[in-house]
Amino acid sequence: MTVSHDLISEIKELKRARNAVILAHNYQIAEIQEVADFVGDSLGLSFKASETSADVIAFCGVHFMGETAKILSPSKIVVIPDINAGCSLSDSCPAEKLADYLAEHREKNYYVIAYINCSAGVKAIADVIVTSGNAVKIVESAPPDRNILFVPDQNLGAWVMEQTGRKMDLWRGNCYVHVEFTRDSIKRIKSERPDAVVVAHPECTHAVRMLADEVCSTEKMVTFCRDNSAKNFIIVTESGMLHRLRREVPQKNFIAGPTDHCACADCRYMKMNTLEKLRDCLATLEPQIHIPEDVRSKAERSVRRMLELSK
Ligand code: 13P
Ligand code: SF4
Repeated sequence: MTVSHDLISEIKELKRARNAVILAHNYQIAEIQEVADFVGDSLGLSFKASETSADVIAFCGVHFMGETAKILSPSKIVVIPDINAGCSLSDSCPAEKLADYLAEHREKNYYVIAYINCSAGVKAIADVIVTSGNAVKIVESAPPDRNILFVPDQNLGAWVMEQTGRKMDLWRGNCYVHVEFTRDSIKRIKSERPDAVVVAHPECTHAVRMLADEVCSTEKMVTFCRDNSAKNFIIVTESGMLHRLRREVPQKNFIAGPTDHCACADCRYMKMNTLEKLRDCLATLEPQIHIPEDVRSKAERSVRRMLELSK
C-alpha cells in the first residue's frame, strides 16, 4: 500500500479540527479502513452513528449508509466522500414503486421488513429494518398473524426464510456484486482448494449458498474465521472484506471467492471512495446528506425498532 503520509496527516488534522468521526464499511479500500475510527458491517456502523458525540460523521460506504447515519443523528453533519456512490440493490426498490405495490395489495395488510440497503424513503414506509447480521432474529419476532413483504433483496430474503421457516413475499431485487458469484466459479475454487472452508454472504444466490460451509454477515465472518480451527478460508463477498480479515485474523489465510470472469468481486460504488475524496469532504463539509424531516422521522422509527430488537 503506497499512501502519501501528508494525505493521512491532513485527514487526521481535519478530523480533529472538525471534531469528526470516520466510519468505514468493510468493503472500503484498505487505505480508508486504515484511517477510519471504526470499520464494520451495516449493523455495527448504525450503532456507532447513533452513539457518537462527534459533530461530523464522515461516512465511507455508500449513499444509503450515510442516510442511515443522518436518520439516527439528525443534528450531526453527515458527509460522504462521493455522492454518486449508490447501490444497485437499493435502486431496485424505489419508494414510490413500493408505495404503489402496497396500495395495489392492500388486502394483504403487509408487515414490511426492509433490508438496510434501501433509501430513506423505503425506510420511512417499512415497519422494521434488518441487516444481514440480525435479519433472522428480527423476522422471528415479526407479528405471527401478518403477511410479511421483505424488500429489496430476494436472496437475503430467501436465506432468512430457510433459516426461520417463516413464509415471506420477496421483492425481486439483488446486489449486482453478489450475484456475480456462480455455482461454477465457487465449485472451481473449491476443487483447487479442497482444504479451505467456504464463507459466503447471504446476498449470494441459493446455488452459491448451498456450496458454503457458513453463510453470514461481514461482521460475523471475522468471528467465524477467528474461532474456526481451519487455516484457509474462501471468502465469497466483496473484496474489501479480505483486508479486514487479514488485519484482524493475521494467523489465517484468506482467498477471495472468484466470479466467472474475475479473481474477486469489487463493488464499483464502494470503490468510488478514495482518501483524496475523504480529505475533501472533511475540508469542505460537502457532499452532505440531507433528508426531508417528515421522511427522516418516519424512517427513524423503523431503524430504531431494529436497534432495539438487536440488543
Ligand atoms: P453487511 O456488511 O451488513 O453484511 O452488508 C453487506 C453489504 O452488501 C453492504 O452493502
Ligand atoms: Fe449495494 Fe451490492 Fe455494493 Fe453492497 S456490494 S453496496 S449491496 S451494490
